[in-house]
Amino acid sequence: MDKTVSPARAIDGILTLPGDKSISHRYGMLAGLAEGRTTISNYSTGADCQSTLGCMEALGAHVERQADGLTVIEGGALREPTGELDAGNSGTITRMLTGILAGQSFTSRMIGDASVSSRPVDRVIRPLTQMGANIEARDGRYPPLVIHGSRLHGIEYTSPVASAQVKSCVLLAGLFADGETIVHEKVQTRDHTEIALAEFGADIEVDRKTTRVRGGAQLKGRELVVPGDLSSACFFLVAALLMKQADLVIHGVGLNPTRSALLDFLVSMGAQIKVLNIHLVAGELIGDLRVTTSEVRGGVIEGALTAALIDELPALAVLGAASLGGLTVRDAAELRVKETDRIATIAAGLEAMGVKIATAPDGFQIAGKQQFRAAKIDSAGDHRIAMAFSVAALAADGPCTIHDAGSAAVSFPAFYDMLEQIAK
Ligand code: S3P
Repeated sequence: MDKTVSPARAIDGILTLPGDKSISHRYGMLAGLAEGRTTISNYSTGADCQSTLGCMEALGAHVERQADGLTVIEGGALREPTGELDAGNSGTITRMLTGILAGQSFTSRMIGDASVSSRPVDRVIRPLTQMGANIEARDGRYPPLVIHGSRLHGIEYTSPVASAQVKSCVLLAGLFADGETIVHEKVQTRDHTEIALAEFGADIEVDRKTTRVRGGAQLKGRELVVPGDLSSACFFLVAALLMKQADLVIHGVGLNPTRSALLDFLVSMGAQIKVLNIHLVAGELIGDLRVTTSEVRGGVIEGALTAALIDELPALAVLGAASLGGLTVRDAAELRVKETDRIATIAAGLEAMGVKIATAPDGFQIAGKQQFRAAKIDSAGDHRIAMAFSVAALAADGPCTIHDAGSAAVSFPAFYDMLEQIAK
């Protein structure tokens, strides 16, 4: 699907966003393992998190999507799937669910789309093999995966890549391992798995960048609410910051400190953002955001900050080009193995709009005060590229066409409707 996005003068309105993708994946998987009933409100509507529910159903969980928006999951011991498990476009599923499957008493086969089939899974095969797992992958590195359930034992592991998915995979495998599994992080990544495991009753202890989980605890179903997705909110925050007139309120957004570096970074660039009504639900912080007309300076993203902002970099690249001082991003080689090679797809989109960018193997540099020209931009099937350039189009000198715009539905099916609602 092609989508034409016209320039806007202002961003104005009040929104509530669908549930966070990372948290929904975790609640879906853990509810499938938990004894009894879990009710989840505001579960992500994105295709990725629906793939998680499909996988858990294939593994024996009973999933009901109710008309009132609740997702109800009856979980328990998993059973051998009759067919292939389909991860769709989701790297999170191929990494995290593999940890769960490695310790079962049956064999599973997991497939995904063309993008997922080119994204590395050796980063999880390595620690899982140390735990006693038996996993086959294409070229030892890529999906499809055949996961022969095995008896696992706990390990102590430090991931060489800053990845919440790798950490989560090892912790989830640890649920089924003999003894204790310990994961150390060099750079702290999002901690939704640790929080969710504690909520579901796992035997888990977190001490800064070290997490220990003991195998054997029976998880218990419970009632949960998924906060609005801050990574989705990022597109609308950037849209507001690109405009000469902005007043946007977003209710109920997830503000977990391992994710909210985005807000600190935007504020450091000069963004006028206020956070209101902060409260805690099931261990996760939630609050309302209000962004108003701002003058945005430039910024540098590197080191631990890069890991904390990894999903927001496409939108921030767009903001960087319009900012006064531009944007430099370093230490972001991981961008090369996301849904697309995002250094390449960000550069292609910006260049199509007449914006200059210098790329490096692990980052990019964009000068500020650049004008977006009307253009046709290819999302390359990447949801965050589609949304980032739809937002850039609001500040262009004429209507832009986003090719394969429907890919936004991977995380945010209502994106274009909400964008139309707030763009004036
Ligand atoms: C995610 C972690 C990040 C992120 C992805 C979701 C998660 O990946 O890019 O969109 O839910 O754990 P890595 O942990 O591999 O960096």
